Amino acid sequence: MTKRIIAALLALALLLAGSALSEGALVVYFSRAGENYSVGEIEEGNTARLAKLIAARTGAEIFEIAPAVDYPASYDECLAIATEERNSDARPAYIGDVEGWEDYDTVFIGHPIWWGTVPRIVYTFIENHDFTGKTVAPFNTHEGSGRGDSQQVMEGLLTDAAAVLQGLAVRGATAQNDAEAAGRAVADWLNELDIDQ
Ligand SMILES: Cc1cc2nc3c(=O)[nH]c(=O)nc-3n(C[C@H](O)[C@H](O)[C@H](O)COP(=O)(O)O)c2cc1C
Repeated sequence: MTKRIIAALLALALLLAGSALSEGALVVYFSRAGENYSVGEIEEGNTARLAKLIAARTGAEIFEIAPAVDYPASYDECLAIATEERNSDARPAYIGDVEGWEDYDTVFIGHPIWWGTVPRIVYTFIENHDFTGKTVAPFNTHEGSGRGDSQQVMEGLLTDAAAVLQGLAVRGATAQNDAEAAGRAVADWLNELDIDQ
């Protein structure tokens, strides 16, 4: 009998520990709707879709890095702006901010690959926050570059974080059109990182 009570208490403690972990997770992402490579005109960005799959699996809260000035819906115009921002090492502004930042111990950070790297607006977000003690799990969508150099960029920007885990890269078209395949990629990645889902 006593053994059974101890086992039940242990199970309860594990359950509570698990849910505490999910409550402490946040998915932050930047994504752009409009015209894009390989997917045509889209109403919801590819990275937004991937971000929502991660949040659904982990029970994390979501914060979207929404630009103060919208990026053009035209793919070519957006390419031109992204070039300008990269060349000038810009820090574009975004709207609002995360509430209760200090409560999160795991932060997923997602973005599309722009010119082989991390869009500058993601730098703005990271530089505005204190990551001390937080574990960061980066992810991105792309159309051929994989992670590009974003793992190194994230590690360079996040020197105050407790850890920067190995990031996940998913094709934009997969995130947009094949939720099952994207969901599998997310599940495998979370397993590898040993993150509860
Ligand atoms: C400005 C810009 C630059 C891009 N540069 C690259 C690139 O260098 N490598 C790549 O694989 N895809 C590149 N892409 C494609 C995006 O990474 C891909 O479509 C991504 O899924 C878009 O995500 P989003 O819908 O969340 O914005 C670029 C797209 C844009 C708009």
